[in-house]
Amino acid sequence: MDIKQKIEELRAELHRHNYNYYVLNAPEISDKEFDDKMRELQDLEEAHPEFKDDNSPTMRVGSDINKNFTQIAHKYPMLSLANTYSEAEVTDFYERVRKALNEEFEICCEMKYDGTSISLTYEDGKLIRAVTRGDGEKGDDVTDNVKTIRSIPLVLHGDYPPSFEIRGEILMPWTVFEELNKEREAREEPLFANPRNAASGTLKLQNSAVVASRKLDSYLYYLLGENLPHDGHYENLQEASKWGFKVSPIMRKCKTPQEIFDFINYWDVERKNLPVATDGIVLKVNSLRQQKNLGFTAKSPRWAIAYKFQAERALTRLNKVSYQVGRTGAVTPVANLDPVQLSGTVVKRASLHNADIIEGLDLHIGDMVYVEKGGEIIPKITGVDKEARGFMSGEKVKFITHCPECGSKLIRYEGEAAHYCPNETACPPQIKGKIEHFISRRAMNIDGLGPETVDLFYRLGLIHDTADLYELKADQINGLDRMGEKSAENIVSSIQESKNVPFERVIFALGIRFVGETVAKKIARAFENIDELKEASFERLTSIDEIGEKIARSILSYFSNESNRRLIERLKESGLQLRRTEQDRSEYTDKLAGKSIVISGVFTHHSRDEYKELIEKNGGKNVGSISSKTSFVLAGENMGPAKLEKARKLGITILSEDEFLKLIS
Ligand code: IVH
Repeated sequence: MDIKQKIEELRAELHRHNYNYYVLNAPEISDKEFDDKMRELQDLEEAHPEFKDDNSPTMRVGSDINKNFTQIAHKYPMLSLANTYSEAEVTDFYERVRKALNEEFEICCEMKYDGTSISLTYEDGKLIRAVTRGDGEKGDDVTDNVKTIRSIPLVLHGDYPPSFEIRGEILMPWTVFEELNKEREAREEPLFANPRNAASGTLKLQNSAVVASRKLDSYLYYLLGENLPHDGHYENLQEASKWGFKVSPIMRKCKTPQEIFDFINYWDVERKNLPVATDGIVLKVNSLRQQKNLGFTAKSPRWAIAYKFQAERALTRLNKVSYQVGRTGAVTPVANLDPVQLSGTVVKRASLHNADIIEGLDLHIGDMVYVEKGGEIIPKITGVDKEARGFMSGEKVKFITHCPECGSKLIRYEGEAAHYCPNETACPPQIKGKIEHFISRRAMNIDGLGPETVDLFYRLGLIHDTADLYELKADQINGLDRMGEKSAENIVSSIQESKNVPFERVIFALGIRFVGETVAKKIARAFENIDELKEASFERLTSIDEIGEKIARSILSYFSNESNRRLIERLKESGLQLRRTEQDRSEYTDKLAGKSIVISGVFTHHSRDEYKELIEKNGGKNVGSISSKTSFVLAGENMGPAKLEKARKLGITILSEDEFLKLIS
């Protein structure tokens, strides 16, 4: 079979499997078979760039090319919906429509999905553009990122109009959101407050390969165009689902207000079992002809409204505000409340976030406050019932000035809302937090020790910092808190074994602010040993890939602290790997440091992935397409003519496999 035909067959097949899996939820082949086919297509496309197609299923993998978004004007403005919060307002809407139309009509009820809205343009069955809402008039072109969302079809099937727009919501499912926040917590990155923020943040990422990894989903709910198949909005969406779109199965055409209320009341409860966040019900006049008759106000259509669910909230008394100090020293105010029932759990505490929030609420002790769970996981205080405040109202809540744990004066960094305790090396929760991080699986991986044991050892004065761990003796801990001889010995031997943990993980384990696993790896490759790192200048640090000003400053500040320097000396004396080993050295070089390298063609000595790894291990960066910034192209057999032409035009060196291997040997 000729190559072009093979490529086209694979594309059609992958589009179909993708639709079966992500839209219909009914896969026909295994994940492995799918991946194999995708890989086969990727290889063929790479070898034959002359058959490139912007809507190939391979586009879903994303690329690591950075780009700024271009702004695109919406053909039809993206309006919002008028919000209502009560049955009475829904009845008003129904009556307004009835009077204005003066004929029979149906209202289509559907879920209001709480994500970020998107407008997709299709021409001749192909996705050509995806634009965010922006200011309603114009939005960001996020096409490459949207292409990574598997439930959005790149190529349509069936009987679709030649040109149309479809709008809908991009969502991050609850499970993905929780997983993402867990990972971010481990890396000490700020958490997303809710799946909506996570979805819109993800859509604006520069790197579509990261977007691809975030597993976004979608529901499409609004078709626009000249040649739509039916007069009914509901009927058109059913049609759109046949073309490949993911359309919500929760839609109902209602004739009477009672039918509408039944739908609202049922889904107000049942929505808690849906995999994605919803915050209301949207009511739309079903007939497009009638929609046109009703028209728009300046801001929203007259033919639709949103009924917003009441975020579940409860009223209770504020007894006290306490303050928690985290591992990084960040101080979080916590409201202590009279226990109250909320969405199935008893709430006694709620986050107050920071000093500005407390000030904004004008909070006094003894106030009756509203607690909400909303889309957030941690309940928060959203308001104060000021009427309930008697003439004997309690004291106004003032944010503390000194650390509740160690008494140090708190500081507030410019541009940050949080207060910090600066006493990194002697404030108990910061010390315990640092030790917990140090022993964690991805750091020193010390088995048998957990937060409770760390707390116990700390309270008994057995450990004050991470270096003390290496001086622990089994007979010191044997018998503590029902600990047997065997477990005591296991802990001590696990601590001793951690001396073999490689340099890069030791750097990560130190818990330097903003130095996560990836940065630790880069550091371990750039420096011979910890002493070199300790003395590194700001310029040297920022010259390393992935290290910007913020991280560099944090590293400098860590090593400028005398007790950190002493700690490092003690860890060194205990025999931890604080330098690169022979093995590290032989595997990693900086021979390709600062180089952007494009891989193209078919190879004989190594696979494409192996070359990618070799580039990274030698300090280079593999990039997707040729530009003036490309350092050279690693070319195998059959490099595509378009790529070759581009490289020649820009005067970019082309290296063969052998030449490349010689270069890094
Ligand atoms: S229809 C002209 N249907 O709610 C109105 N919107 O305030 C077109 N939304 O920006 C929107 N679920 O992001 C529509 N089933 C649904 C929706 C929905 C969520 C969002 C959408 C829009 C906002 C309106």
